[in-house]
Amino acid sequence: MTTLRISSTRLHKSITELSRIGRQPAGGITRLTFSEADIEARKYVSSLIREAGMSVSIDEFGNIIGRTLNAAYDIPAISCGSHIDTVPNGGALDGAYGVLGAIEAIRCIHEHHTPTKALQLIVFTEEEGARFGAFIGSKGFVGLLDTSSAYAMKDRDRVTFREAMHNAGIRPTSRPSEQYRNIRAYLELHIEQGPVLEHEHKSIGIVESIVGLGDLVIEIEGEARHAGTTPMQLRRDALLAAARIILGANQSAIKTGTSAVATVGSVIAFPGAYNVIPGRAIINVDYRDVSIPRIRRLETKISSISKEVARKSNVEIVIRRKSFTKPAHMSAKIIRVIKASCRDLGLSCKYLPSGAGHDCQNIAHITKTGMIFVPSRDGISHAANEYTKPKQLEDGANVLLATLLRLAD
Ligand code: GLV
Ligand code: MN
Ligand code: MN
Repeated sequence: MTTLRISSTRLHKSITELSRIGRQPAGGITRLTFSEADIEARKYVSSLIREAGMSVSIDEFGNIIGRTLNAAYDIPAISCGSHIDTVPNGGALDGAYGVLGAIEAIRCIHEHHTPTKALQLIVFTEEEGARFGAFIGSKGFVGLLDTSSAYAMKDRDRVTFREAMHNAGIRPTSRPSEQYRNIRAYLELHIEQGPVLEHEHKSIGIVESIVGLGDLVIEIEGEARHAGTTPMQLRRDALLAAARIILGANQSAIKTGTSAVATVGSVIAFPGAYNVIPGRAIINVDYRDVSIPRIRRLETKISSISKEVARKSNVEIVIRRKSFTKPAHMSAKIIRVIKASCRDLGLSCKYLPSGAGHDCQNIAHITKTGMIFVPSRDGISHAANEYTKPKQLEDGANVLLATLLRLAD
């Protein structure tokens, strides 16, 4: 049992400093992949990785990889990490806490201990999918996405991933990502982003499974016309059709009677003028569940409702699946090790599923994985007022440290 503890002063300083990058006047933090804020955050985090005694490399997906001990790449590494991109106007902890907590834990190990195994830290690119599509970095890392598909992905302004990465000055260092794939285990520290731990007064959540999720892009083509002169029955209103699809997606998830959820969080209408009937609309449907057949059924239902709405509303639609990520189960062995670490630290814990997606679920394709959650105040996340008490953040990072030590010795 270790007596080693992370430095909470350093952890909180780094969380505060990173949270200043991409801060928005309207509230929250926006760090879209390869934006100026993301570039600055990458520089800041890379400097912390070096200070923690690791080398810094970049793979072909822009993932930042820190490596201890100058370990040869044929030595399997115990890895941990998360992401530093955010949703628009997001919080200071989603992703950032996992990266900064892992850097602090590895730094602490470096300063006080010589682990017998290599340690690796990964900062995954584009976890949120707020610019190009969810999980590009972690999917690419494990080989679920090849570079040509990733590089061709476009943002709203039709800028490709490749162009954006190039313009951001992010160049892969010589080693391809498959050389970092030699991983013995992967751990991810994260805020819960839901209310369960707080409600049950537990310090730590030990994740058993992570939901699968899909993202449908639905483009609706109607006709832009004068809002005053076009009679109601002669309209082909794309936004009205979008509204009907939104209601349909909502009902489809409710009717499953399971843990399934469906959300439309992004609506764009053109031309976007108060006195013009919207001729074109684009919406995204995010849908999730823990079982693949149920997610597939939900997707089929949402697609058929959308086509039916299009027919009745006299508009054209194109439905495209932008991304699909399978659910994942965490390793029973790592779950046991995390539980033992909580016990050593005298922290209460609870097993729970994750309704949020995480890079971890992609890494589960290649190795044993585990996730450590800390409480989120009022369960709030993907919002400016995301908050976890400093002591809770410190506890989570200490559980990560203890778990890393157990796995690395
Ligand atoms: C990732 O943050 C998600 O959308 O669950
Ligand atoms: Mn996250
Ligand atoms: Mn998130």
